[in-house]
Amino acid sequence: MTKLLSSSPEPSTASHKAFDDTIGAPLWLLAELTYRCPLQCPYCSNPLDFASQQKELSTDEWRDVLHQARAMGAVQMGFSGGEPLVRDDLEELVAEARELGFYTNLITSGLGLDEARILALRDAGLDHIQISLQAADEEMAAALAGSKKAHAKKLAMARAVKAAGYPMVLNVVLHRHNIDQIDKVIALCVELGADAVELANCQLYGWAHLNRAGLLPSRSQLDAAEATTQRWRQQLAAEGKDMRLLFVVPDYYAERPKACMGGWGAIFMTVTPDGTVLPCHSARELPMTFPTVREQPLNSIWYESFSFNRFRGDEWMPSPCRECDERHKDFGGCRCQAYLLTGDETATDPVCDLSPQHGLIEAARAEAAADNRSVAELTPRNKRESQVFCRE
Ligand SMILES: C[S@@+](CC[C@H](N)C(=O)[O-])C[C@H]1O[C@@H](n2cnc3c(N)ncnc32)[C@H](O)[C@@H]1O
Ligand code: SF4
Ligand code: SF4
Repeated sequence: MTKLLSSSPEPSTASHKAFDDTIGAPLWLLAELTYRCPLQCPYCSNPLDFASQQKELSTDEWRDVLHQARAMGAVQMGFSGGEPLVRDDLEELVAEARELGFYTNLITSGLGLDEARILALRDAGLDHIQISLQAADEEMAAALAGSKKAHAKKLAMARAVKAAGYPMVLNVVLHRHNIDQIDKVIALCVELGADAVELANCQLYGWAHLNRAGLLPSRSQLDAAEATTQRWRQQLAAEGKDMRLLFVVPDYYAERPKACMGGWGAIFMTVTPDGTVLPCHSARELPMTFPTVREQPLNSIWYESFSFNRFRGDEWMPSPCRECDERHKDFGGCRCQAYLLTGDETATDPVCDLSPQHGLIEAARAEAAADNRSVAELTPRNKRESQVFCRE
């Protein structure tokens, strides 16, 4: 196995925060194995500049990352991307993670999966699979994915995953083009035998932020979708079915921001395909440089790096967060959202209605209400568009 850098903790000194016991260990590791992906979802939360990524970590480098993360105390792992199934060493990495004692989850579009691979992943010890669906009908799904074959493939793979005995979560990213189909979407998930369904209102980062005005649903669409979800919950309970329905409310219609990632550098870390380590999968969009596992051990990145310490605690907070009783509940909201909306990564998340810049959210809703682009008119997430973005 390639040792990236020593993962053993360095001796504690006064100028050194490796053993700062106010910082807890990371519990969650998201391994974004690749940004390669056969689909082109315009709502994708991946960074716009993914085409400028450095070389992907090798199998051995990933194995070393897993060892380091586990030694630090991480227990849960997600394999994601891009499309993680593009990597033909996925099974090997799952086996390594399982051997180390991680609870492992594969987060996939289902493209690149087949029955043989499902069994190979099961033999490797994979605990859980999450497949994303895009719509209830083939036409809308094809427009969103940029592929006519994707929908049928996803359905076939969801059935195969259940047949192989996995617990299965289906994830559906909701936006104005598919949210009115929610009744049929839930019916489809019931038919596929999902154990849980994440009805995830689109988070407006990456490509979704670029296409924001063409994706944000209206308040009435949202209210109707929430009511339909509630009706389904009651129906499922009455029928004694225990399929869980999670409805994730979109930030732009909330009064308070979410406690993003349970706090900056609190429990979660993402390692991107080239080894850059982030406190959340969107943080690459911030005007900061993040360290990579090729140049620094994970332990030292988590405890000591400037970027991981930048928004820990509350000293960095501006007013009104600094004086607010809720600052230890939501940590001032999402740093990426604050930056994308205001250009200032230290600002109070404008989603909060106490923020002096809350008007930006109202303006974004008004802008979206005046936008009537079809899915085909949105910018697809693909390498060509990313290269255009990188050149700008
Ligand atoms: C970036 S994808 C990578 C895995 C795989 N390619 C897929 O799409 O399932 C990880 C998860 O995030 C979801 N997702 C993507 N963009 C999103 C967004 N803007 N808001 C909320 N969830 C999003 C996907 O549906 C998927 O469940
Ligand atoms: S959300 Fe769509 S485009 Fe993004 S990685 Fe997943 S399948 Fe690919
Ligand atoms: S002012 Fe800041 S801490 Fe208070 S609720 Fe709003 S975002 Fe949260």
